[in-house]
Amino acid sequence: MDVETAARERRSIRRYQQTPVPVQTLYDLADVGRLYASVANLQPIGFAVVSQKANTDAVFESLNWAMYLKDFRIEPEHRPPAYLLLLTEGRKDAAFDAGGAAATVMLAAKACGLDTCCLGIARSESLRNHLDLTEPWVPAYAIAVGFGAQKSRAVPFEGTVQYWLDENGDFCVPKKSLNDVLIFADVRP
Ligand SMILES: Cc1cc2nc3c(=O)[nH]c(=O)nc-3n(C[C@H](O)[C@H](O)[C@H](O)COP(=O)(O)O)c2cc1C
Repeated sequence: MDVETAARERRSIRRYQQTPVPVQTLYDLADVGRLYASVANLQPIGFAVVSQKANTDAVFESLNWAMYLKDFRIEPEHRPPAYLLLLTEGRKDAAFDAGGAAATVMLAAKACGLDTCCLGIARSESLRNHLDLTEPWVPAYAIAVGFGAQKSRAVPFEGTVQYWLDENGDFCVPKKSLNDVLIFADVRP
């Protein structure tokens, strides 16, 4: 799959099959993620590979899922089988780097047939304690990784950014059009 197709087809997937993700694949995703563009090349982020049940459960409990959907639940049999965590050194300017690394990981995952969802870690301190992470590392974002058990598609933005579920339970994610977001151009195709 080429990069454009991966970027167009990647959607956040929140329900997963329990098929394990090969450990080498998780390491490969972290390895490609480390090559992100970095403010002043400081590279203030680290990765954690999480695939053992006790740890994936701890990550799951540290997250809030699908804030726009009332009563959204992920049953135990649909929890993500693995995560890559983005750890920051606590620097304020690490957010850009973490975003770039997360995008890199998600596109690489999509290109090899895996689904992902990037999530802010809501209960960072308890997860930090559970994983016994030492200073200076703070778990900032989680990327759920696995084979999806739900569908999601982009739909035209019509005034609301809130995603919803259609009659089949598929996610519909409003995306602004190119016309909405192209604020200036001095040439036309
Ligand atoms: C930094 C970041 C944090 C996010 N945090 C959450 C989250 O806490 N819970 C969640 O369900 N989704 C989260 N998402 C996923 C967004 O809701 C999702 O990207 C957005 O709805 C667009 O959908 P798409 O990724 O399928 O294009 C997050 C995405 C990003 C980039």
